[in-house]
Amino acid sequence: MLSSLSFLLLSPVLLSAATSIHPSVNSAKCLTAASNTDGAAVQIQDCVSGGSTSQNWTISGGNLKLFGTKCLDVTGGSTTNGNKLQVWTCASGNTNQLWTVSGNTIQWTSHSSCLDLTDGSVTNGNPIQIWACSGGPNQQWPTTTSTTTPSGLQQSLTTNGISAAYPGDSTYSAAAKAYNLRYTLSPAAVAFPTSAAQVAAAVKAGVAQNMQVVARSGGHSYIANGLGGNNGALVVDLSKMKAISIRAANNTALIETGNRLGDIALALNAAGRAIPHGTCSYVGIGGHSGYGGFGFTSRAWGLTLDVIKSATVVLANGTIATASSTVNTDLFWAIRGASPSFGIVTSVEVQTFPAPASATVFQYGWDNMDITTASNAIASFQTFATTNIPPEFGAELVFGAGSSKGHVFFGLTGAWYGAASSLDATLAPYLKTLPTPSSSTISPGSYINSVAVLAGQPLNTASASEQADTFYTKSLMTPSGSPMSSAAITAFVTYMANQGFTSDTAWFVEVELFGGSNSAINAVPLDSTAFAKRDTLFTFQLYASSNNSPPTPPYPTDGFSFLDGMAASIVSNSPANWNYGAYLNYPDDRLTNAATLYYGSHYARLKSIKTAVDPLNVFRIPIGV
Ligand SMILES: *[C@@H]1O[C@H](CO)[C@@H](O)[C@H](O)[C@H]1NC(C)=O
Ligand SMILES: *[C@@H]1O[C@H](CO)[C@@H](O)[C@H](O)[C@H]1NC(C)=O
Ligand SMILES: *[C@@H]1O[C@H](CO)[C@@H](O)[C@H](O)[C@H]1NC(C)=O
Repeated sequence: MLSSLSFLLLSPVLLSAATSIHPSVNSAKCLTAASNTDGAAVQIQDCVSGGSTSQNWTISGGNLKLFGTKCLDVTGGSTTNGNKLQVWTCASGNTNQLWTVSGNTIQWTSHSSCLDLTDGSVTNGNPIQIWACSGGPNQQWPTTTSTTTPSGLQQSLTTNGISAAYPGDSTYSAAAKAYNLRYTLSPAAVAFPTSAAQVAAAVKAGVAQNMQVVARSGGHSYIANGLGGNNGALVVDLSKMKAISIRAANNTALIETGNRLGDIALALNAAGRAIPHGTCSYVGIGGHSGYGGFGFTSRAWGLTLDVIKSATVVLANGTIATASSTVNTDLFWAIRGASPSFGIVTSVEVQTFPAPASATVFQYGWDNMDITTASNAIASFQTFATTNIPPEFGAELVFGAGSSKGHVFFGLTGAWYGAASSLDATLAPYLKTLPTPSSSTISPGSYINSVAVLAGQPLNTASASEQADTFYTKSLMTPSGSPMSSAAITAFVTYMANQGFTSDTAWFVEVELFGGSNSAINAVPLDSTAFAKRDTLFTFQLYASSNNSPPTPPYPTDGFSFLDGMAASIVSNSPANWNYGAYLNYPDDRLTNAATLYYGSHYARLKSIKTAVDPLNVFRIPIGV
């Protein structure tokens, strides 16, 4: 059976979604290749009704492709305003072919140039150029996407009793909506299986059509990987798989991956138990536990992926496998750090901990801090982390725009899981390095109260739906062995205080304390799971949203370069061989060195396991293995 499957899949990859790209001034005109040969011009033509191979673009992995193999290409890589565009055979890593589509703008990735309608003319044959991004009308390119569901897919999902939303259904647009509204993707179908057996049937149905198959747990991926990150995927939505069973006898819980963090915290807490996880209650356990899972209990208990004892995984060939320290051990290693590339995890068995008897959330704020004071605040936190701070201490630094140029908002937020009365003694050595805060809120109470305060959202996620966002994020993980230099810290704060003051985005930065003395994250041997960045002191989350209220598209074009520059302020002031990383739960699909930053020294082993369990790359996602 496997051999006939392989034969089928060796045929060229079929993409079932095609996108036409229009100048905003005339939706009847289409971005068109003059021919399918290398060097052919890209120009304006009347849209051909029913589609034309020279107008049927697919947006995939940063490329805009035509004819299956040709890419939109910046001629000669010249950055000069007015340089005309061409099609050229796609080559991986060719930066002349990388584009960032955001709202209606199409930006040459890592450059400040955008796709531009030459002279604003929609005359047939007018060639298209690059020009410095201005956000102006000549740089607005609305797209229309038509997705077709292979009829064989619909038939086999139906035969297996799996409900699904298909393009054209009234439920489709809600089912295909991304949390990050910067992405508008058109899956071929969104399936809603109710069991691992149905997940397996759905995977087989997708594979039989040579499709990309992707799991969606909570749908919170910053780069819409729960929708596949590309058009035309079969999305296996796990939201009908929400069982949680708590086993008191061995302090484990079996959690289906359709569950979100808030609901899991409530269910475990009702039995006096807890696991480490992040603060957003709407995040699904699937991606969270597959890539990391940091929260303020992580210095005591590790990442979410560290507490997985076993998992049920649907493989690319439809097998329902168990993975643990004794069965399918390579797979067990891989799913703890890179699971979305290896299969669909339908449930995880996790070790639970007694919910702490008390928990105190602390939130201090300093408005309009100057550059010197804020730089000192980071440097002294870095030092404080190496003192003998207890594992029950979890914290992050927070930055936002100041109220005058040259200043930032600075905050310290975290939770203390020891006796409330001993928090002051733990924090005092750090607080005494800082001026008097402008605000402080100390919230002592029960463990579940701390989870609710930190979430700032309902824990019962069925009670209200979540507000979507339109944003871009980068991350940076700093090595404990090579802390940030004062030059890097000052450059970073100076950038936030100046560029951050004028930015037209709504931005924040969180500097999460992964490491420091007594951190359970760093105590795990590097090679015991696929998670590649055990030696991390801080994980920076750089986050910039559209400034609309609520934060809807369009996303400002300079939002990308704003965060690129912020990350670069640290990296360019650090040693050339600085062993920093990036965090997969804050994914960035614009990185050019993603494999190293995300998977580090584990990439080669991950690749070889991938070849064994998913040789046809069914679970193909941006920045995957
Ligand atoms: C363009 O793509 C659409 C959607 O996949 C397809 O229906 C249509 O046949 C394509 N047209 C051509 C000429 O390739
Ligand atoms: C915990 O107990 C359950 C039965 O209650 C069993 O199925 C499971 O394998 C046990 N897990 C571990 C890690 O021992
Ligand atoms: C499915 O793939 C797994 C992992 O490669 C392999 O162990 C198993 O034998 C395969 N099952 C079938 C039915 O081919």
